[in-house]
Amino acid sequence: MKKTVLTFAEAKQKKEKLTMLTAYDYSMAKLIDEAGVDSILVGDSLGNVILGYEDTISVTVEDMIHHGAAVARGAKEALVIIDMPFMSYQTSVYDAVVNAGRLMKEGRAQAVKLEGGASVCPQIKAITDAGIPVCAHLGLTPQSINAFGGFKVQGKTEAAAKKLIEDALAVQEAGAFAVVLECVPEKLATMVTEKLDIPTIGIGAGAGCDGQVLVYADMLGMFSDFTPKFVKRFAETGQIMKDAFKAYNEEVKAMTYPEQKHTYAISDDVLDKLY
Ligand code: KIV
Repeated sequence: MKKTVLTFAEAKQKKEKLTMLTAYDYSMAKLIDEAGVDSILVGDSLGNVILGYEDTISVTVEDMIHHGAAVARGAKEALVIIDMPFMSYQTSVYDAVVNAGRLMKEGRAQAVKLEGGASVCPQIKAITDAGIPVCAHLGLTPQSINAFGGFKVQGKTEAAAKKLIEDALAVQEAGAFAVVLECVPEKLATMVTEKLDIPTIGIGAGAGCDGQVLVYADMLGMFSDFTPKFVKRFAETGQIMKDAFKAYNEEVKAMTYPEQKHTYAISDDVLDKLY
């Protein structure tokens, strides 16, 4: 059965943990979906993982639609959330609703995610009023990397921690159905989780959150440009893939691949007529 935002609300009520992984294409979405993961996030980490940018700033609405639609085709059960990229919602409430609508109509998302707290609550309210579920994102919000001056844990001072709690309550009040907490001290994330009626999905925010999200390429050991402390490598798929590419390269050059069993036959009668 297809999971929905109600699955998220019920999980919070029943104190059952939620799982989320990123994906950016059909085949990966299908594997994650078949593994029973609750939700697939088409994150704008697409910029780093797939497009090779050093940050998420250059990712466009068109990029998100293109990859989001591929993921949606592969996700039979998992709830598909597509990220709103940088400057697709910060500019105005109107832009936010139009672009969220495009991610739903063209990308076939079931929900969108955007970064920020009180300052983007008018956008969250307008998008949810239009019938589009919104997942908020607080703590380390990568689209603001230039304002933060780097990838740093957020909410460590009294003022920053208070602001994080206020922002979490504000996005809930504005209508968000869930909130991602990224790179937040564990005890603060747990406190936020206890204060909210909507689920918190942590990434580098400890075990007290209602669910967890990871970038698939990090947890599979496929992305080595940088590995944050919170990432657990559940497999060394990158090394397995590299070994397979190397073996293919060697076998073709040594003429041990393809073998007879990998080829198609043609009758000698037909061949004779060709000379
Ligand atoms: O873009 C992304 O992958 C994300 C996750 C890190 C939560 O926003």
